[in-house]
Amino acid sequence: MLKIGMLTSGGDCQGLNAAIRGVAKSLFEYDPKTKIYGFKSGYRGLIKGRYREMESKDFSGILTLGGTILGTSRMPFKEMHLPVDEKRENSPTRIEAMVNTYYRMELDCLVIMGGNGTHKSANLLREHGCNVVTLPKTIDNDLWGTDVTFGFQSAIDVATDVIDGIHTTAESHGRVFIVEIMGHKVGWLPLYAGMAGGADIILIPEIPYNIKTIKKVIEQRTANNKPFSIIAMAEGAKSIEEAEMSKKDFSKYMDEMTYPSISYKLADELDQMVDQEVRVTVPGHYQRGGQPCPYDRVLATKCGAFAAEMIINKEFGYMAGVSGSKMIKVPLEEVAGKLKMVDPEDELVLAGRQMGIYFGDEKL
Ligand code: F6P
Repeated sequence: MLKIGMLTSGGDCQGLNAAIRGVAKSLFEYDPKTKIYGFKSGYRGLIKGRYREMESKDFSGILTLGGTILGTSRMPFKEMHLPVDEKRENSPTRIEAMVNTYYRMELDCLVIMGGNGTHKSANLLREHGCNVVTLPKTIDNDLWGTDVTFGFQSAIDVATDVIDGIHTTAESHGRVFIVEIMGHKVGWLPLYAGMAGGADIILIPEIPYNIKTIKKVIEQRTANNKPFSIIAMAEGAKSIEEAEMSKKDFSKYMDEMTYPSISYKLADELDQMVDQEVRVTVPGHYQRGGQPCPYDRVLATKCGAFAAEMIINKEFGYMAGVSGSKMIKVPLEEVAGKLKMVDPEDELVLAGRQMGIYFGDEKL
């Protein structure tokens, strides 16, 4: 009889419940006596030993549900070696506490769903002797080793819907609108939503922008009888000057920034440079909320079923990844600590450039 622990960690996204269901239903189908323990709020639950034995009925009716029935939390990798209880002299570290929970419960495997940080910690658990399989979740689609992550497509749908809505009001008022889209380090989401929503300018962290060229693009559009513009801007986009700063200087510069976010700063600067009014829309966490789209339901289900298959076959230490239309086993040590960035020469970027969409760099 298998004893499995399951947790979701990091920012939530659409499709987590579909993935949980995919794992659980497959394992119950294999052996109805399987024990599944759901840890509460990500790694915190594993550290504190907070879990609940789940029943088959817990996994019914959750395919279309947003969020995660297990709850989640952020726990940075660098904090894994901190003591659980700072005040206690002999307190185990967080990683030690997690490993202790694993052995105390005599688990056969931990199923961990998460993004980048989560995978680094999952790999650490593997290095400490735990059997682990992981599933790739994040709206950012920035996990190394998989073509796609679940949550990404649903977030594209939401962000595109926002751009579509902004398009009509921007046109009516003849305004420049900046739509700030999630993506601190990596710009897949703003790239795809920007392309799907017909943005005129797409700014992503991987391609620093030149504000003077943005001004030129806006003016050129006005001269071509299009006196409105849509800028899809990643929350982590940087100007050429900002990108040249050292990490330390940039973090000081951000700490001292008085704007709520970088798109307000760009809006303020542009407002003084162009004739149109400039406005900002920030959909924020709404992009991660709500029901998963059908594509993500299918993808998350496939990832869940594939993870269950790995457990049944005793193949541990892998992420369930996607390559083309196939599921693949990706070794955790290869995934941990690596980001899948947008290549400035990515086909979609090139297609956009070919159509006159401005991506930030000097070229027009
Ligand atoms: O990692 C997913 C993500 O949604 C990022 O795109 C975003 O920058 C971040 O999480 C927001 O984090 P939090 O939920 O902690 O505010």
